[in-house]
Amino acid sequence: MLTDMKGILSNAVKKKYAIGLFNIMNLEWTKAILEVHQEKNTPVILGVSEKTAKYMGGYNTVFSTVAGLIKDLSINTPVTLMLDHGSYEACQNALDAGFTSVMFDGSELPIEENVRLTSDIVKRAHKQGALVEAEVGIVGIVKDSIVNYGKIASPKECIQIIETGVDILSAGIGNIHGIYPDDWNGLSFDVLSDIKKAVGHLPMALHGGSGISDKEIKKAISWGIAKVNVSTELQIGFTKSIRKYIEEKKDLTEKGSDPRHLLKPGISTIKSIVAKKIQLFGTQQISHPKIC
Ligand code: 13P
Repeated sequence: MLTDMKGILSNAVKKKYAIGLFNIMNLEWTKAILEVHQEKNTPVILGVSEKTAKYMGGYNTVFSTVAGLIKDLSINTPVTLMLDHGSYEACQNALDAGFTSVMFDGSELPIEENVRLTSDIVKRAHKQGALVEAEVGIVGIVKDSIVNYGKIASPKECIQIIETGVDILSAGIGNIHGIYPDDWNGLSFDVLSDIKKAVGHLPMALHGGSGISDKEIKKAISWGIAKVNVSTELQIGFTKSIRKYIEEKKDLTEKGSDPRHLLKPGISTIKSIVAKKIQLFGTQQISHPKIC
């Protein structure tokens, strides 16, 4: 069931659990992530970056793939399809294709510009019942072993952004995309606490969810984080499992080079990582009305 997840996110804030955003890369990952959530009866947010949308063929292909899988696999747990870190134009394109949420990333713009563009996207998205996430401060990134620590968000700027009517807030609290460096100081809980006071019950997202200790993830969720984004851990796990398959020369056995066999260990790893995250995030099961 493709939905906006607004009610579920509010419930997550109230009951102190989180919903995972798992970045998808292809058909197999999408299917695996959906199947685990169906089995666990938990809601899920599928995240797609601009680059991945292009890689998969475009926003319409991504939307049709997700909608098709939901129908063919009879997925009846709530699913949100979100554009992850989109530009202004990408948000419009994703909404045109039917995405149920978009994350507009104006974090590197001056705050006034970020507010203006976020506000525009909120108006457009809400007209079609889609949700919007915006970012304040900057979530860091590790690229080619170079660490950019990002920028810690200010509660004042968080308030400016939430006045646009945005549904989810991503605030830089020392979190980083990619593999955390050894000298990383951890999440800034003092900042999270100040932001939480400023934003009240608005659901907050924690990006860079791979590699943060379970203890810090649980603490962040109990302090107001209702959505945790995970990508790098899936990528590493997937590739490592397939490398083992090849190193064991299983691809050289009869039918071993069939991509359905080759990708299988990677898919199993994705499923087991996602299942562990659902448990770590305490994602609440969905109660379906009883059919008499
Ligand atoms: P990681 O790749 O660090 O898990 O971060 C994912 C993310 O935040 C996507 O927006």
